[in-house]
Amino acid sequence: MDASLTVGMLMSRLRVEEKLLLAELEARGVKVVRFDDRVYTLDLHNPNPEMLACDVIVERCINHLRALYTLRVLNDWGVPTVNSYDVANTCGDKLLTSTALERVGVPTPRTIVAFTPESALHACEALGYPVVMKPAVGSWGRLLARVNDRDAAEALLEHKVTLGSFHHGAFYIQEFVRKPGRDIRSFVVGGETICAIYRASEHWITNTARGGAATNCPVTPEIDALSRAAAAAVGGGVVAIDLVESERGLLVIEVNYTMEFRNSIDTTGVNIPARIVDYVLEQGRANAERRASLAVAG
Ligand SMILES: Nc1ncnc2c1ncn2[C@@H]1O[C@H](COP(=O)(O)OP(=O)(O)O)[C@@H](O)[C@H]1O
Ligand SMILES: [Mg+2]
Repeated sequence: MDASLTVGMLMSRLRVEEKLLLAELEARGVKVVRFDDRVYTLDLHNPNPEMLACDVIVERCINHLRALYTLRVLNDWGVPTVNSYDVANTCGDKLLTSTALERVGVPTPRTIVAFTPESALHACEALGYPVVMKPAVGSWGRLLARVNDRDAAEALLEHKVTLGSFHHGAFYIQEFVRKPGRDIRSFVVGGETICAIYRASEHWITNTARGGAATNCPVTPEIDALSRAAAAAVGGGVVAIDLVESERGLLVIEVNYTMEFRNSIDTTGVNIPARIVDYVLEQGRANAERRASLAVAG
Protein backbone atom coordinates (compact mmCIF):
# COMPACT_ATOMS: atom_id res chain seq x y z
CA MET A 1 0.00 0.00 0.00
CA ASP A 2 2.83 2.41 0.86
CA ALA A 3 4.23 1.88 -2.63
CA SER A 4 1.38 4.01 -3.94
CA LEU A 5 2.19 6.90 -1.59
CA THR A 6 4.06 10.01 -2.68
CA VAL A 7 5.96 11.84 0.04
CA GLY A 8 7.58 15.22 -0.56
CA MET A 9 10.44 16.73 1.40
CA LEU A 10 11.17 20.45 1.68
CA MET A 11 14.89 20.84 2.14
CA SER A 12 17.90 23.02 1.66
CA ARG A 13 21.42 21.73 2.23
CA LEU A 14 21.03 18.10 3.38
CA ARG A 15 22.11 17.58 6.99
CA VAL A 16 22.54 14.19 8.66
CA GLU A 17 18.87 14.30 9.72
CA GLU A 18 17.55 14.79 6.18
CA LYS A 19 19.77 12.00 4.86
CA LEU A 20 18.48 9.63 7.55
CA LEU A 21 14.87 10.55 6.82
CA LEU A 22 15.33 10.14 3.06
CA ALA A 23 16.99 6.74 3.55
CA GLU A 24 14.14 5.65 5.81
CA LEU A 25 11.47 6.85 3.35
CA GLU A 26 13.21 5.09 0.48
CA ALA A 27 13.43 1.88 2.53
CA ARG A 28 9.62 1.97 2.89
CA GLY A 29 9.23 1.93 -0.89
CA VAL A 30 7.30 5.19 -1.16
CA LYS A 31 7.88 7.66 -3.97
CA VAL A 32 9.98 10.52 -2.60
CA VAL A 33 10.09 13.95 -4.22
CA ARG A 34 12.59 16.54 -3.01
CA PHE A 35 11.85 20.26 -3.08
CA ASP A 36 14.90 22.49 -2.64
CA ASP A 37 13.99 25.84 -1.08
CA ARG A 38 16.95 27.44 -2.88
CA VAL A 39 15.30 26.56 -6.19
CA TYR A 40 11.51 26.42 -6.04
CA THR A 41 9.20 29.40 -6.19
CA LEU A 42 5.57 29.41 -5.08
CA ASP A 43 3.11 30.87 -7.56
CA LEU A 44 0.16 31.46 -5.26
CA HIS A 45 -2.49 31.28 -7.96
CA ASN A 46 -0.98 28.27 -9.76
CA PRO A 47 -0.28 25.45 -7.31
CA ASN A 48 2.83 23.45 -8.15
CA PRO A 49 1.49 20.15 -9.59
CA GLU A 50 4.38 18.13 -8.18
CA MET A 51 3.65 19.46 -4.72
CA LEU A 52 -0.11 18.89 -5.14
CA ALA A 53 0.59 15.28 -6.13
CA CYS A 54 2.19 14.58 -2.73
CA ASP A 55 0.07 12.78 -0.15
CA VAL A 56 2.10 14.52 2.52
CA ILE A 57 5.17 16.78 2.60
CA VAL A 58 7.83 16.70 5.33
CA GLU A 59 9.35 20.08 6.10
CA ARG A 60 13.13 20.01 6.71
CA CYS A 61 14.22 23.53 5.73
CA ILE A 62 17.01 25.14 7.71
CA ASN A 63 15.64 28.65 7.39
CA HIS A 64 12.57 29.40 9.51
CA LEU A 65 11.06 31.99 7.14
CA ARG A 66 11.34 29.69 4.11
CA ALA A 67 9.72 26.89 6.10
CA LEU A 68 6.98 29.13 7.41
CA TYR A 69 5.98 30.67 4.08
CA THR A 70 6.13 27.37 2.22
CA LEU A 71 4.00 25.61 4.83
CA ARG A 72 1.42 28.40 4.75
CA VAL A 73 1.08 28.13 0.98
CA LEU A 74 1.07 24.30 0.95
CA ASN A 75 -1.61 24.12 3.64
CA ASP A 76 -3.70 26.67 1.71
CA TRP A 77 -3.36 24.43 -1.35
CA GLY A 78 -4.70 21.57 0.77
CA VAL A 79 -1.41 19.67 1.03
CA PRO A 80 -0.87 18.20 4.52
CA THR A 81 2.57 18.86 5.97
CA VAL A 82 4.63 17.59 8.88
CA ASN A 83 4.61 19.91 10.64
CA SER A 84 1.64 22.14 9.86
CA TYR A 85 2.04 25.88 9.34
CA ASP A 86 0.39 26.55 12.72
CA VAL A 87 2.84 24.35 14.61
CA ALA A 88 5.82 25.91 12.82
CA ASN A 89 4.55 29.41 13.41
CA THR A 90 4.05 28.84 17.14
CA CYS A 91 7.30 26.92 17.70
CA GLY A 92 9.36 29.33 15.61
CA ASP A 93 8.56 32.18 17.97
CA LYS A 94 9.38 31.83 21.65
CA LEU A 95 6.76 34.32 22.73
CA LEU A 96 4.02 32.48 20.81
CA THR A 97 5.27 29.21 22.33
CA SER A 98 5.29 30.61 25.87
CA THR A 99 1.79 31.99 25.58
CA ALA A 100 0.53 28.71 24.07
CA LEU A 101 2.02 26.87 27.07
CA GLU A 102 0.45 29.34 29.53
CA ARG A 103 -2.92 29.01 27.80
CA VAL A 104 -3.17 25.34 28.72
CA GLY A 105 -1.35 25.57 32.05
CA VAL A 106 1.91 23.81 31.12
CA PRO A 107 4.51 24.91 33.71
CA THR A 108 7.08 27.22 32.14
CA PRO A 109 9.52 29.82 33.50
CA ARG A 110 7.97 33.19 34.26
CA THR A 111 8.27 35.25 31.08
CA ILE A 112 7.57 38.90 30.33
CA VAL A 113 7.44 40.61 26.95
CA ALA A 114 8.28 44.32 26.84
CA PHE A 115 8.40 46.71 23.91
CA THR A 116 10.67 49.53 25.01
CA PRO A 117 14.04 49.46 26.77
CA GLU A 118 12.54 51.38 29.69
CA SER A 119 9.69 48.96 30.26
CA ALA A 120 12.10 46.06 29.68
CA LEU A 121 14.24 47.34 32.57
CA HIS A 122 11.15 47.39 34.78
CA ALA A 123 10.43 43.80 33.72
CA CYS A 124 13.97 42.75 34.68
CA GLU A 125 13.57 44.35 38.10
CA ALA A 126 10.18 42.69 38.55
CA LEU A 127 11.62 39.26 37.80
CA GLY A 128 14.77 39.88 39.86
CA TYR A 129 18.30 39.29 38.56
CA PRO A 130 19.63 37.20 36.98
CA VAL A 131 17.22 37.16 34.06
CA VAL A 132 17.53 35.61 30.62
CA MET A 133 16.91 37.61 27.44
CA LYS A 134 16.35 35.80 24.18
CA PRO A 135 15.48 36.79 20.66
CA ALA A 136 11.92 35.54 20.17
CA VAL A 137 12.97 34.02 16.84
CA GLY A 138 16.23 32.08 16.95
CA SER A 139 17.84 28.78 17.83
CA TRP A 140 21.04 26.90 18.66
CA GLY A 141 21.47 29.06 21.76
CA ARG A 142 22.39 32.10 19.67
CA LEU A 143 22.10 35.59 21.17
CA LEU A 144 20.84 34.27 24.49
CA ALA A 145 21.95 36.48 27.33
CA ARG A 146 22.09 35.87 31.04
CA VAL A 147 21.76 39.32 32.59
CA ASN A 148 23.13 39.45 36.11
CA ASP A 149 22.43 43.04 37.10
CA ARG A 150 20.95 46.36 36.07
CA ASP A 151 24.18 47.61 34.50
CA ALA A 152 24.28 44.61 32.19
CA ALA A 153 20.57 44.96 31.40
CA GLU A 154 20.98 48.63 30.42
CA ALA A 155 23.97 47.85 28.22
CA LEU A 156 22.30 44.91 26.52
CA LEU A 157 19.09 46.83 25.87
CA GLU A 158 21.02 49.74 24.39
CA HIS A 159 22.91 47.36 22.11
CA LYS A 160 19.69 45.68 21.03
CA VAL A 161 18.04 49.01 20.23
CA THR A 162 21.08 50.34 18.36
CA LEU A 163 22.20 47.23 16.52
CA GLY A 164 19.05 45.13 16.50
CA SER A 165 16.80 44.21 13.63
CA PHE A 166 13.04 43.82 13.51
CA HIS A 167 12.99 40.75 15.73
CA HIS A 168 14.79 42.58 18.50
CA GLY A 169 11.99 45.12 18.69
CA ALA A 170 10.26 43.09 21.39
CA PHE A 171 12.16 42.05 24.49
CA TYR A 172 11.59 38.48 25.68
CA ILE A 173 12.65 38.38 29.31
CA GLN A 174 12.57 35.26 31.43
CA GLU A 175 13.38 34.26 34.96
CA PHE A 176 16.73 32.45 35.16
CA VAL A 177 16.11 28.89 36.33
CA ARG A 178 18.80 27.44 38.59
CA LYS A 179 18.91 24.03 36.98
CA PRO A 180 21.47 21.32 37.67
CA GLY A 181 24.22 21.50 35.03
CA ARG A 182 21.92 20.03 32.41
CA ASP A 183 18.54 20.24 30.76
CA ILE A 184 16.28 17.62 29.19
CA ARG A 185 15.24 17.32 25.58
CA SER A 186 12.34 14.99 24.83
CA PHE A 187 11.00 13.94 21.45
CA VAL A 188 7.26 13.76 20.83
CA VAL A 189 5.95 12.15 17.64
CA GLY A 190 2.22 12.04 16.99
CA GLY A 191 1.33 12.49 20.65
CA GLU A 192 3.83 9.94 22.00
CA THR A 193 7.02 10.72 23.93
CA ILE A 194 9.43 8.40 22.13
CA CYS A 195 12.66 9.19 24.03
CA ALA A 196 14.62 11.88 25.84
CA ILE A 197 18.20 12.95 26.45
CA TYR A 198 19.99 14.96 29.09
CA ARG A 199 22.20 17.72 27.74
CA ALA A 200 24.96 18.45 30.24
CA SER A 201 27.26 21.43 30.10
CA GLU A 202 29.51 23.58 32.25
CA HIS A 203 27.79 26.51 30.55
CA TRP A 204 24.22 27.51 31.45
CA ILE A 205 23.34 27.18 27.73
CA THR A 206 23.22 23.44 27.21
CA ASN A 207 22.45 23.12 23.46
CA THR A 208 24.51 20.37 21.83
CA ALA A 209 25.30 22.95 19.11
CA ARG A 210 27.11 24.80 21.92
CA GLY A 211 28.95 21.78 23.27
CA GLY A 212 26.33 20.21 25.55
CA ALA A 213 26.94 16.44 26.01
CA ALA A 214 24.03 14.08 25.33
CA THR A 215 23.19 11.05 27.49
CA ASN A 216 20.04 8.97 27.70
CA CYS A 217 17.29 10.29 29.96
CA PRO A 218 14.66 7.76 31.01
CA VAL A 219 11.17 9.00 30.13
CA THR A 220 9.55 9.32 33.56
CA PRO A 221 5.77 9.73 33.86
CA GLU A 222 6.35 13.45 34.63
CA ILE A 223 8.55 13.98 31.56
CA ASP A 224 6.06 12.06 29.44
CA ALA A 225 3.00 13.98 30.64
CA LEU A 226 4.64 17.39 30.33
CA SER A 227 6.16 16.64 26.94
CA ARG A 228 2.85 15.48 25.52
CA ALA A 229 1.04 18.48 27.01
CA ALA A 230 3.62 20.87 25.53
CA ALA A 231 3.41 19.20 22.12
CA ALA A 232 -0.39 19.37 22.19
CA ALA A 233 -0.24 23.03 23.23
CA VAL A 234 1.57 23.98 20.00
CA GLY A 235 -0.62 21.78 17.82
CA GLY A 236 1.05 18.36 17.88
CA GLY A 237 3.06 16.78 15.07
CA VAL A 238 6.78 16.03 15.37
CA VAL A 239 8.48 18.21 17.98
CA ALA A 240 11.29 18.30 20.52
CA ILE A 241 10.73 19.79 23.95
CA ASP A 242 13.38 21.53 26.07
CA LEU A 243 12.71 21.07 29.79
CA VAL A 244 14.57 22.19 32.88
CA GLU A 245 14.56 20.76 36.37
CA SER A 246 13.69 23.50 38.87
CA GLU A 247 12.68 23.76 42.52
CA ARG A 248 9.08 23.88 41.25
CA GLY A 249 9.50 20.66 39.28
CA LEU A 250 9.98 20.40 35.54
CA LEU A 251 9.41 23.52 33.44
CA VAL A 252 9.07 23.63 29.67
CA ILE A 253 11.46 26.13 28.10
CA GLU A 254 10.93 25.67 24.40
CA VAL A 255 9.28 23.51 21.73
CA ASN A 256 11.24 22.93 18.49
CA TYR A 257 9.60 22.02 15.19
CA THR A 258 12.34 20.97 12.71
CA MET A 259 14.53 19.38 15.28
CA GLU A 260 17.96 17.91 14.85
CA PHE A 261 18.25 14.43 16.32
CA ARG A 262 21.58 12.98 15.16
CA ASN A 263 22.96 12.99 18.74
CA SER A 264 19.94 11.23 20.17
CA ILE A 265 19.60 8.00 18.19
CA ASP A 266 22.53 5.96 19.55
CA THR A 267 22.19 7.75 22.89
CA THR A 268 18.61 6.58 23.42
CA GLY A 269 18.57 3.44 21.28
CA VAL A 270 15.40 4.73 19.62
CA ASN A 271 15.29 4.89 15.84
CA ILE A 272 14.00 8.46 15.70
CA PRO A 273 13.91 8.78 11.89
CA ALA A 274 11.94 5.52 11.65
CA ARG A 275 9.42 6.81 14.19
CA ILE A 276 9.08 10.09 12.33
CA VAL A 277 8.58 8.26 9.02
CA ASP A 278 5.92 6.01 10.62
CA TYR A 279 4.02 9.15 11.58
CA VAL A 280 4.54 10.84 8.21
CA LEU A 281 3.25 7.77 6.35
CA GLU A 282 0.21 7.62 8.64
CA GLN A 283 -0.59 11.23 7.67
CA GLY A 284 0.01 10.43 4.00
CA ARG A 285 -2.25 7.35 4.08
CA ALA A 286 -5.03 9.28 5.81
CA ASN A 287 -4.85 11.99 3.14
CA ALA A 288 -4.72 9.46 0.30
CA GLU A 289 -7.87 7.79 1.67
CA ARG A 290 -9.57 11.16 2.06
CA ARG A 291 -8.73 12.06 -1.53
CA ALA A 292 -9.92 8.67 -2.81
CA SER A 293 -13.28 9.01 -1.05
CA LEU A 294 -13.69 12.56 -2.37
CA ALA A 295 -12.96 11.32 -5.89
CA VAL A 296 -15.64 8.62 -5.51
CA ALA A 297 -18.14 11.09 -4.05
CA GLY A 298 -17.35 13.66 -6.76
N1 LIG B 1 15.23 30.66 31.67
C1 LIG B 1 16.28 29.86 31.62
N2 LIG B 1 16.94 29.50 32.75
C2 LIG B 1 18.01 28.68 32.70
N3 LIG B 1 18.52 28.18 31.57
C3 LIG B 1 17.91 28.51 30.41
C4 LIG B 1 16.76 29.35 30.37
N4 LIG B 1 16.37 29.50 29.10
C5 LIG B 1 17.24 28.79 28.36
N5 LIG B 1 18.17 28.19 29.14
C6 LIG B 1 19.26 27.34 28.66
O1 LIG B 1 19.61 27.76 27.35
C7 LIG B 1 19.30 26.74 26.39
C8 LIG B 1 18.75 27.34 25.11
O2 LIG B 1 17.54 28.01 25.39
P1 LIG B 1 16.28 27.90 24.44
O3 LIG B 1 15.22 28.77 25.01
O4 LIG B 1 15.95 26.46 24.22
O5 LIG B 1 16.80 28.59 23.09
P2 LIG B 1 17.33 27.98 21.69
O6 LIG B 1 16.19 28.19 20.73
O7 LIG B 1 18.49 28.82 21.32
O8 LIG B 1 17.65 26.53 21.90
C9 LIG B 1 18.33 25.81 27.09
O9 LIG B 1 18.43 24.52 26.56
C10 LIG B 1 18.81 25.89 28.53
O10 LIG B 1 19.96 25.08 28.74
MG1 LIG C 1 16.36 25.06 22.68
